[in-house]
Amino acid sequence: MTAIKDKTIWLTGASSGIGLALAQQLAERGARLILTSRRPVQLEELRQSLANSESHQVLALDLSNPEQAKTDAQTALSGQTIDVLINNAGISQRSEALETDLAVYRRLMEIDYFGVIALNQVALPQMVKRQQGHIVTVASVAGKVGSKLRSGYSGAKFAVVGYMDCLRAEMAEHNVQVTSILPGFVNTQIAINALQADGNQQGHNDPEIESGISANTCAEGIINAIERNKAEAIIGKGLSALAPTLQRFFPTLVRRITAKRKA
Ligand SMILES: NC(=O)c1ccc[n+]([C@@H]2O[C@H](COP(=O)([O-])OP(=O)(O)OC[C@H]3O[C@@H](n4cnc5c(N)ncnc54)[C@H](OP(=O)(O)O)[C@@H]3O)[C@@H](O)[C@H]2O)c1
Repeated sequence: MTAIKDKTIWLTGASSGIGLALAQQLAERGARLILTSRRPVQLEELRQSLANSESHQVLALDLSNPEQAKTDAQTALSGQTIDVLINNAGISQRSEALETDLAVYRRLMEIDYFGVIALNQVALPQMVKRQQGHIVTVASVAGKVGSKLRSGYSGAKFAVVGYMDCLRAEMAEHNVQVTSILPGFVNTQIAINALQADGNQQGHNDPEIESGISANTCAEGIINAIERNKAEAIIGKGLSALAPTLQRFFPTLVRRITAKRKA
């Protein structure tokens, strides 16, 4: 059981959506938060609005440059104990593989894959030394099942799920917990911020995201998975949440469905 109260939790993607809801719920439960995203002003406003605001800190990082983010985080967090790192920051994609710039694939990999590894390399050495800690990554159902318009996003999320599986095997002897979160559709800014073929943002929501679960419900599921030290947790409703199980037992059916549906 990983308790939340009095733990120092480093949370990325705290400025919006699932991360914002996580920040509010974790603060309510007595965690000390290190709030990360690119936007320091939004993060500072958030910090001041949280329960026990003075116990939280802001650390602005741009994960599209993982090497720089790692160096900046190492400097800022030097000597600080981190009990839980939640790698939640991420961007998505809405474009066909045939049309998508290579730069879009690289940006998705930098933020959704290398960004996770970079921050884990900051947090893990002291967790291993203390023989305790918890690494959590918000991957996606898209990290288990491929569908249209997400070849770069799914590629990065499959990669991060594979990386987390290997990390879990290596961390078992060090008593460091490793949790992958696989949300289905969640109503956040993810589709609005998603990259199109030329790298511009889509700029509008998708119906399936709009009708997904709320960020608050998703955050509750993530906290539950952390407290129970789950290796993997699927959080969502409908087909998006069923997809990994269907893929495992009925792969041909899933191939038929994904070839027909837009998402
Ligand atoms: N919503 C869904 O349906 C869904 C489903 C499955 C998985 N997920 C995953 O859930 C996570 C959170 O997404 P969300 O749905 O809450 O989307 P969101 O509302 O768009 O939030 C994304 C967060 O990531 C941060 N971020 C984006 N680019 C960044 C960068 N270069 N460096 C640092 N931080 C960056 C953003 O902060 P700034 O803009 O302030 O930097 C923001 O806080 C993502 O990993 C996403 O892939 C979402």
